[in-house]
Amino acid sequence: MPRTAIVTGGGTGIGRAVARRLAADGLDVVITGRRKQVLEQTAEELGVRAVAFDASDVAAIEAALPALPGQVDVLVNNAGGNIARHRPAPAEGDLAGLRDLWAAQLESNLISAVLTTSALTPRLAVGGRVISIGSIAGARGSGGGGAYGAAKAALHTWTGDLAFELGGRGVTVNAIAPGYIEDTEFFGAGGPGTERRTWLIDQTANGRPGRPEDVADTVAFLASPEAGNITAQVIHVNGGAFRGR
Ligand SMILES: NC(=O)c1ccc[n+]([C@@H]2O[C@H](COP(=O)([O-])OP(=O)(O)OC[C@H]3O[C@@H](n4cnc5c(N)ncnc54)[C@H](OP(=O)(O)O)[C@@H]3O)[C@@H](O)[C@H]2O)c1
Repeated sequence: MPRTAIVTGGGTGIGRAVARRLAADGLDVVITGRRKQVLEQTAEELGVRAVAFDASDVAAIEAALPALPGQVDVLVNNAGGNIARHRPAPAEGDLAGLRDLWAAQLESNLISAVLTTSALTPRLAVGGRVISIGSIAGARGSGGGGAYGAAKAALHTWTGDLAFELGGRGVTVNAIAPGYIEDTEFFGAGGPGTERRTWLIDQTANGRPGRPEDVADTVAFLASPEAGNITAQVIHVNGGAFRGR
């Protein structure tokens, strides 16, 4: 029986590259996401299975459970993004707008992973892997009022706690903190813009943007038997930008 993997947000960007890599490594992969059409197109291209659901919606997760594998060897909590990039900032003094933005960032980047993992914990195989995609922003902070970075910081902290909860079952739990990764929908159509892109690359020690495959390769290693004693870690895949300049 091949090992199974679930990659949330697997229809685009980093998740798509992770799904491609795990499938190439022989795993039976399911990708998830909210946009059914995007998901199904990617699934067809990669030869993996698609199950559409919103990872931050309890009813949607519960409804999807019967379609998900009965045993999960690798769970990749990749769904998320910086909500602030896709909506106007709340005006000064707009506490209701501010609350909505913070709640949306936490739901997208933290609660989605917590709910999906909790729903699938009974199905995690002995020796299983939970790998969450955090961010350099969880260490360095983010613009847009800081909610995205705070949500990713919480994801990193939860990763450590969960490692101790699941360690007795032989499950490792780690996070990956990417820096700027090209070829994703993270920055919306057109990417971050030339000036911002140059600034992001200037932060790195190696002078290059990250690629979805950089993250996928790290996921593949963490999912491998060789990484069995690595748990409760945040692995920085950001060309050293984590240290700042
Ligand atoms: N690109 C970067 O520079 C960068 C840097 C650091 C960290 N990250 C993190 O990397 C992860 C992947 O992002 P990406 O860069 O690959 O951007 P992306 O192309 O926008 O991918 C995000 C994916 O997550 C899915 N998604 C978002 N919210 C979801 C939800 N509630 N339920 C289910 N699926 C959901 C999206 O699909 P639907 O819209 O169809 O649901 C999309 O396929 C994110 O967690 C992001 O925060 C990215």
